[in-house]
Amino acid sequence: MDDGDADKFVPDSRDLRRLKAAASNCRGCGLYREANQTVFGNGKKAATLMLVGEQPGDQEDNAGKPFVGPAGKLLQRALDAADIDRSEAYVTNAVKHFKFVRAERGTRRIHKKPGRGEIDACRPWLVAEIDAVEPDVVVCLGATAAQSLIARDFRVTAHRGERHHLMPELGVHCDPFVFATVHPSSILRGARDERERAFADLVTDLRAAMVSCQSPR
Ligand code: URA
Ligand code: SF4
Repeated sequence: MDDGDADKFVPDSRDLRRLKAAASNCRGCGLYREANQTVFGNGKKAATLMLVGEQPGDQEDNAGKPFVGPAGKLLQRALDAADIDRSEAYVTNAVKHFKFVRAERGTRRIHKKPGRGEIDACRPWLVAEIDAVEPDVVVCLGATAAQSLIARDFRVTAHRGERHHLMPELGVHCDPFVFATVHPSSILRGARDERERAFADLVTDLRAAMVSCQSPR
């Protein structure tokens, strides 16, 4: 894998606290300039399950923690419904800084999808987190995470719920099963009458991912 631009900021360490401290000074792409802070992953040190979102949103950028805003609340409900304890998981994002545009009037910050350059630039942090946590299962929430970890052209609608592996080029030292499902925000953005079904499908995918790590390879 062509080394992302965060590479020179990533210490040679599997200690999550050291990684997080170093990430707070990352300038591997331009996103650090406008955002408030690096939002590093958070959760259990040796978690069985790692959840990977896209990038922090407005509330995450203010709080410094992943998935604490509206998408995080929906994710929490889905984890509850799937009988997964969030405190037993490690939760992070493919990109660690919030990318946004300002609303034309007012100060509201509107989420902007990270580009391939930013996803690639930030990947070394994600790789370091996977090496540090050594999860049995990684669940990609949405296409950004899946394209960062499974395949560059991955399509969630076509391949959600299937069991994959990390791209070998990432050079990760462990070999977790990797699943992809929809991003919680896509459910919030979807039509009201489709939400219940979309939510149930997310819960099904989360359950299937957890079952896989209990069954033989
Ligand atoms: N969306 C994400 O992908 N990650 C977060 O942390 C919050 C919203
Ligand atoms: Fe570094 Fe990632 Fe932030 Fe870019 S988004 S500055 S690569 S931590």
